[in-house]
Amino acid sequence: MLDAESLREELQTIAGLTSAPINLNFFCHAQPEPCREWELRWRRLLSPYFAEYGIDPGPPPSAAGRRPFSVEMADQLEEFRPAVISFHFGLPSAELLARVRGWGAKVLSTATTVEEARWLEAHGADAVIAQGLEAGGHRGHFLADDLSAQMGTFALLPEIARAVRIPVIAAGGIADAQGVAAAMALGAAGVQIGTAYLLCDEATTSAVHRAALKSDAANATALTNLYSGRPARGIVNRLMRELGPIHESVPSFPLAAAAIAALRSKAESLGSGDFSPLWAGQNVSGCKEVSAAQLTRELACACKL
Ligand SMILES: Cc1cc2nc3c(=O)[nH]c(=O)nc-3n(C[C@H](O)[C@H](O)[C@H](O)COP(=O)(O)O)c2cc1C
Repeated sequence: MLDAESLREELQTIAGLTSAPINLNFFCHAQPEPCREWELRWRRLLSPYFAEYGIDPGPPPSAAGRRPFSVEMADQLEEFRPAVISFHFGLPSAELLARVRGWGAKVLSTATTVEEARWLEAHGADAVIAQGLEAGGHRGHFLADDLSAQMGTFALLPEIARAVRIPVIAAGGIADAQGVAAAMALGAAGVQIGTAYLLCDEATTSAVHRAALKSDAANATALTNLYSGRPARGIVNRLMRELGPIHESVPSFPLAAAAIAALRSKAESLGSGDFSPLWAGQNVSGCKEVSAAQLTRELACACKL
């Protein structure tokens, strides 16, 4: 989500605070061309909400917001030589990947199917993240977008562990030390946990998002393409209920986000998360209002088992 300049600033800040290895994460989707017709269809669908809030959605975007990993980003990173670079939505071009590997970084990426895991291994990933359907946030699929091909973490993980020789990191629905131990027993070399950290002191989770995570609403999540153009799991809210979580008129990732932005910020200023992406996985039972360090110690604490 950072542009090259802010990425550099963040890296400089981190370098001033620690010499420990760091992991940077990038999306590597194909950048779509904005399509006026599609954008207008999307805005028509949202127009009753713009009218309700008395707001103007602003001009259609002239360029996509979230950018995929690029030469420009690699230029910024090189001097800092981060130890780990992880990607979502596949891998960047062979040239860019060779450059990252050239400075010694380990490369991780997400697989949502056995086929994607095999593809990542064959294309140079050092480890694969097996992301089950329970996971919060964007689903990392990249070979096919068939949502019916989704598997739960504990069905997907052992299959991927058998199919590849590189280490497998389990992701999706893991929220406590027992879940971590179960993933390790099924062949994981490590786990990736997102949802459980969303209430941590350091997390920049918004007020409406925090409130939703602490409410009964968090028990109902769904995959939705409404907020970005790609399926991502979040707490079901008004927009998802009224338009349906997956809608064919939504522009390609990441273009959908632009038209919603004004609606989202107006609603949030009134304390409503009706139009906000409330990313969360199916298992919110591990969310705690503690420091990330404490939560990590608890998750890693084998003595509790
Ligand atoms: C709020 C949120 C934002 C996320 N953003 C990213 C991201 O930018 N890149 C990425 O690779 N994965 C992202 N993920 C997915 C996580 O890396 C991880 O796969 C997932 O959270 C694991 O499932 P869990 O949420 O059930 O713990 C995100 C997850 C959440 C909940």
